[in-house]
Amino acid sequence: MESINISTLQNWKNKKNKFAAITAYDFSFAKLFSNQGIPVILVGDSLGMTIQGHNSTIPVTVNNIEYHTKAVRKGAPNVFLISDLPFMSYCEINQTLKNTAKIIQSGANMIKIEGGKNLIHIIKALSNQSILICGHIGLTPQYTNYLGGYKVQGKTEKKANEIIDEALSLEDAGIKMLVLECIPAKLSKIITEKLSIPVIGIGAGNYTDGQILVMQDLLGITENKKLKFVKNFLSDSGSIQNAIKMYINEVKNGTFPNEKYSF
Ligand code: KIV
Repeated sequence: MESINISTLQNWKNKKNKFAAITAYDFSFAKLFSNQGIPVILVGDSLGMTIQGHNSTIPVTVNNIEYHTKAVRKGAPNVFLISDLPFMSYCEINQTLKNTAKIIQSGANMIKIEGGKNLIHIIKALSNQSILICGHIGLTPQYTNYLGGYKVQGKTEKKANEIIDEALSLEDAGIKMLVLECIPAKLSKIITEKLSIPVIGIGAGNYTDGQILVMQDLLGITENKKLKFVKNFLSDSGSIQNAIKMYINEVKNGTFPNEKYSF
């Protein structure tokens, strides 16, 4: 696979070519996903749940992300690799810069942070150092205590307008990509059209430029949760390789997520 960079993704946004992304946490799966044509991998702090068995992402540390980023990068040298800055690791500028350095030196192309306007000074400090930043708004799992659980966000007009405003402010501050999690499809359509940067959705309908799923959800091995936006691509495809190909194709042609998998 040719090496994917931020310009590749920006061109896809401009040409309205949809793309698929997936989480990965280790060498073997990263290699398999990359070999099937996945262009974007996220070393998500979802590893707190999928790898470590916690019931939230909150216990994940920068060292954990660093460890998994190194493994994933070895398996997928050409993908565009995003890694999460975990809970409370980007509260003040010096701490954020140090933690970001560790993660980029481990092989990530971009870091992802959860939150809205409260992050503008952090985004500006990172942008000044030419760091690529992905925002993450809507449902932000690091803040589920504050949000009162894993709930769809932006359901009222007031809340929807707040999310649009956050998205525009983040782009203005310097993010180069945005993840929208668990918001109504109509809202993510408005945001995707308003923003000039690539927007990736999870539980945000099929209007976004890209989609992302947690690998264990996509492969149907997350038994304890029934999430509306998750499709088990393995059940009809016979192999993990075919499941990934099916996911990539359905995202590219806009058939995933259809209404059944959207809010
Ligand atoms: O940590 C993660 O896997 C994520 C995705 C759900 C977008 O942030």
